[in-house]
Amino acid sequence: MTEPLLAYVNDGFVPLEQATVHIEDRGFQFADGVYEVVACFNGTYLDLKPHLQRLQRSCAAIEIELPKPMAELEYLVQEAYVKNPFEDAMVYIQVTRGVAPRAHVVQQKLIPTLIITVRELPKPSEKKVQTGMKGITLSDIRWKHCEIKSIALLASVMGKQEAVRQEVDEAFWLDEQGHVLEGCATNIFAVIDEVLVTHPLDHQVLGGITRDMVIEAAKASDVPVEEREWRMDEEGLSECMMSSTTNAVMPVCVMDGQAIGGGKPGDICLKLRAYMLDQLQALRDA
Ligand code: PDD
Repeated sequence: MTEPLLAYVNDGFVPLEQATVHIEDRGFQFADGVYEVVACFNGTYLDLKPHLQRLQRSCAAIEIELPKPMAELEYLVQEAYVKNPFEDAMVYIQVTRGVAPRAHVVQQKLIPTLIITVRELPKPSEKKVQTGMKGITLSDIRWKHCEIKSIALLASVMGKQEAVRQEVDEAFWLDEQGHVLEGCATNIFAVIDEVLVTHPLDHQVLGGITRDMVIEAAKASDVPVEEREWRMDEEGLSECMMSSTTNAVMPVCVMDGQAIGGGKPGDICLKLRAYMLDQLQALRDA
């Protein structure tokens, strides 16, 4: 018999099949909550503290109290890995405002809902690394607080569905001037005149933890980095790459049907990816 997956719900671990929240949970009624996705490699989390700090910032931004003190949250996330059968895992943490009769405004103090679930870490296939990802661009239809990791992901779901319809891997949002912001679940970079360029952190992009890793990898590899607005049609654009917890950094070789650079993964992306995979391997060996 295979081991049942265990999920944490509010005050304990239960088999995933029995893990439920109330229908009047505000996460369900209003998408009134925030989340994190963290990767764990053979028992060692990648950047757990920065992820939990971002969760804390997301909670603070929508005035939800962190459901547990930081140290306890960290312990529970570690426990969630230990109680589930995966070597490399993707751990999902969600906090909602809690349960209350449905009304937009809540005046009473609620107990936030906390859930933690664990799944096998999905990894891009070696073929994708060699051929690169394909993307499309879409006008940004999201709200104006993308720096908050909100569970209200309808726009991203629609963007991803459109990507699937067009047989590509990711959809990237453009602002009204055509600047490339980020993907539905990824940050995006371009190499323009040998400089790694990505949109600055503001209300239009999530401050990806992997985005920081890519910037660090670039600095360590003597690749200059510029955080500025950029467009797909800029002269000198030779590479694109996307980053997220589940992808590390991956080349994007086609956008809206047009090949980028030679339509093959670029040297800078492959260099940064190799640097980051070494770091992930070091975590596995730790
Ligand atoms: N998505 N931008 C958006 C809109 C995201 O949803 C994500 C992550 C990122 C990358 O962030 P990070 O490097 O911290 O994973 C950027 C996660 C993986 C998800 O929703 O599944």
